[in-house]
Amino acid sequence: TGLVTLDSGYGNTAAYKSAITYLDGEEGILRYRGYPIEQIAERGSFLETAYLLINGELPTVDELAAFSDEITQHTLLHEDVKRFYDGFPRDAHPMAMVSSVVSALSTFYQDSLSPFDEQQRHISTVRLLAKLPTIAAYAYKKAIGHPFVYPSNDLGYVENFLRMTFSVPAQEYDPDPVVVGALDKLLMLHADHEQNCSTSTVRLVGSSQANLFVSISSGINALWGPLHGGANQAVLEMLEDIQASGGNVATFIRKVKNREDGAKLMGFGHRVYKNFDPRAKIIKAAAHDVLSALGKSDELLDIALALEEQALADDYFVERKLYPNVDFYTGLIYRAMGFPTTMFTVLFALGRLPGWIAHWHEMIKEPGGRIGRPRQVYTGVELRDYVPLEAR
Ligand code: CMC
Repeated sequence: TGLVTLDSGYGNTAAYKSAITYLDGEEGILRYRGYPIEQIAERGSFLETAYLLINGELPTVDELAAFSDEITQHTLLHEDVKRFYDGFPRDAHPMAMVSSVVSALSTFYQDSLSPFDEQQRHISTVRLLAKLPTIAAYAYKKAIGHPFVYPSNDLGYVENFLRMTFSVPAQEYDPDPVVVGALDKLLMLHADHEQNCSTSTVRLVGSSQANLFVSISSGINALWGPLHGGANQAVLEMLEDIQASGGNVATFIRKVKNREDGAKLMGFGHRVYKNFDPRAKIIKAAAHDVLSALGKSDELLDIALALEEQALADDYFVERKLYPNVDFYTGLIYRAMGFPTTMFTVLFALGRLPGWIAHWHEMIKEPGGRIGRPRQVYTGVELRDYVPLEAR
């Protein structure tokens, strides 16, 4: 129809120019603002990565200290925000609670809703980075029926989140440095991935000039689906199913190949990576390191390793260039850290937040930026005359 071209799933359409993340799917390359993901994950920190993505450059010592201090000052949630959790059913999925509460921040912080005021953009950014760990930890506490633990401002970003999640009243809580380091690394690895479904959602919602809080809430909802961030939960459930049915990996692979019950090998495949996902390589090594450092063994890790080995040697997966993606091994690490399966995608959201924010800022500041408005190819009936109700 005219000049409109159908591009299912936007496989070939670049909707934006962006200077944030470089991704080469054929070569398995991922860089944030030019820095290789391997170097960032090895030597960086999550807050530094957030600063880099949002501001374009790595912070100096003073800049990082100021950024971190500012975030620390905004970690508390308004007491009325806590009441939202009372209204949620106890078995609500944490992703639903988190996206709802993030959306509700726009009712509490009406002084930072304008996308066109630099100061308001800044303060809403700080509020989101500061409050999302608190919102996420409260969702977990709600689910297990424990009292909320207030943020502790003398702790680092990750330590504070772990304490709000895992500490219980009247008991000392000292997060294991292995867990802190591994979670910090996982958050960095998730921090941005250019125009994935959730980031494009944040941009699309933001392109109508909606405020940052609701744009991010939309991104969290887009992330929830099992083909996107929800894959980390789906991988673990798949591994548990295989274990429960006797641990036969070959049978499961056959089921996937025959498309029985629509089965997919969750945590495999990617729209852009046709070689390997560089994040998956780092995470696979981290899974081994974390499990051995915590002195844990997990039969599910053995099942995952066997699945990967058999899939990579199988024509079905080779022909389609299907490799493990970022979600294949993360769940095993989160599980070893003590997170329940339903929190896995929330952890992905915590990591992806700076990327979403960076893209929203880039979009808002783009000169000549336009509202996102895809076209369509109409497939309905041609012109026909209206038939009055009594004549139908
Ligand atoms: N298991 C079995 N077959 C697969 C899989 C899989 N995981 N992924 C793709 N295929 C097949 C697909 O059926 C198709 O086969 P055919 O050509 O015979 O119809 C072919 O491979 C191409 O797949 P596609 O669906 O056209 O690929 P896509 O780019 O549209 O989808 C994907 C990408 C990630 C949604 C998909 O690979 C998938 O569903 N993977 C499982 C879910 C998952 O792990 N998602 C996390 C993605 S990475 C992190 C993130 O985004 O959050």
